[in-house]
Amino acid sequence: MKKILIFGSFGQLGSQLINLLKDEYELIKINHADLDFNKFYLIEDKILKINPDIIINCAALTDVDRCETYKEEAYNVNAEAVKHIIRPLKLTNSYFINISTDYVFNGIKGNYSENDTPDPVNYYGLTKLLGDVYSNSYDNSLIIRTSGIFLNKGFPVFVYKNLVQNKKVTAIPGYYSPISAYNLALAIKYIIPLNRTGILNIAGNKISRYDLAIKVSELYNLNKNIEENNIELTAKRPFDSSLNIDRAKKLIDFNFYDINENLKHMVMK
Ligand SMILES: NC(=O)c1ccc[n+]([C@@H]2O[C@H](COP(=O)([O-])OP(=O)(O)OC[C@H]3O[C@@H](n4cnc5c(N)ncnc54)[C@H](OP(=O)(O)O)[C@@H]3O)[C@@H](O)[C@H]2O)c1
Repeated sequence: MKKILIFGSFGQLGSQLINLLKDEYELIKINHADLDFNKFYLIEDKILKINPDIIINCAALTDVDRCETYKEEAYNVNAEAVKHIIRPLKLTNSYFINISTDYVFNGIKGNYSENDTPDPVNYYGLTKLLGDVYSNSYDNSLIIRTSGIFLNKGFPVFVYKNLVQNKKVTAIPGYYSPISAYNLALAIKYIIPLNRTGILNIAGNKISRYDLAIKVSELYNLNKNIEENNIELTAKRPFDSSLNIDRAKKLIDFNFYDINENLKHMVMK
C-alpha cells in the first residue's frame, strides 16, 4: 500500500481526500496543530522520517484578506513552507501534488489555461504563485490549480446561511470556477495514479457569483434577496479568474465541473 502524507488534513479539501483515499492508501495526516508551517524549518525532518511515496499539500492561508494584512504569515505558509517540502524530496523521491489557485491570475481575460502567465493582483495570489514556482522546481511534482472550493465554507455556503436567516446577500461582480471539495478530492483520486507532472486545472464551470447565489436560492427554495454590487475588501479580487478545464476533462472520467452536481456536496450547517 502506498503511503500518502497529507498536509492540511482538517481543511475542506484535506478532509475530503482523507475520506476518499483511506481505503486504498496508507494515510499520514498532518494538520496545523501537528506542524505549524510558520515553523517551516521543521518540515524537512518530518518528511524524511515519514518517507512518503506521495505528498499532497492542501495546507494554506486561504483567507485572502488576512494574507493582505499578515504578509509574513502568508509568505511562510503559502510559499516558504513549499520550498521546505520539496527540499527533502530528492532523497525520498516522493511524488508531490501542490494545490494552487485561480488567484495567481489578474482576472482580465478569464478562462485561464495551464499555459497562461500568472500575474496576481493580491498577496494571497503572489504567495501561492511563489509556492508554485518552488513546487515546479522539483521534477516529480504536479500543481493543481483550482477555484472557489466549497464544503462547509465558501461563497455558496455563505449565500445559503444568509438567505436562510433572511439576510441580504451581496455578490461582488465577477466570474470564477467553483468546485465542491468532494468533487475536487474525487478528481484528485483519479489523477494520482496517472503520475502527471507540471500544471493541471481542476475546477468547475465558469459562473458569476451573482448567478451562483441565484442558483443556491432556487435549489433550496429560499428568497432571492441577492444583489450584485462591489464591497470594500482589504485585498483586490481578480474580476474573471475562471479556469479552462479542457485538459482535466480528457483525463477525468466523471462530471466534476457541473455546478448543480457540485452544489449537492455542500454542508449547510
Ligand atoms: N478555498 C478556496 O476557495 C480555494 C480556491 C482555490 C485554491 N485553493 C487552495 O486549495 C487548497 C485547499 O483549500 P481549502 O479550501 O481546503 O483550505 P482550508 O479549508 O482553509 O484548509 C487549509 C488548511 O491549512 C491549514 N493551515 C493554515 N495555516 C497553517 C499553518 N500555519 N500551518 C499548517 N497548516 C495551516 C488549516 O488549518 P487550520 O484551519 O487549523 O488553521 C487548514 O487545515 C489551498 O492550497 C488553497 O490555497 C482554495
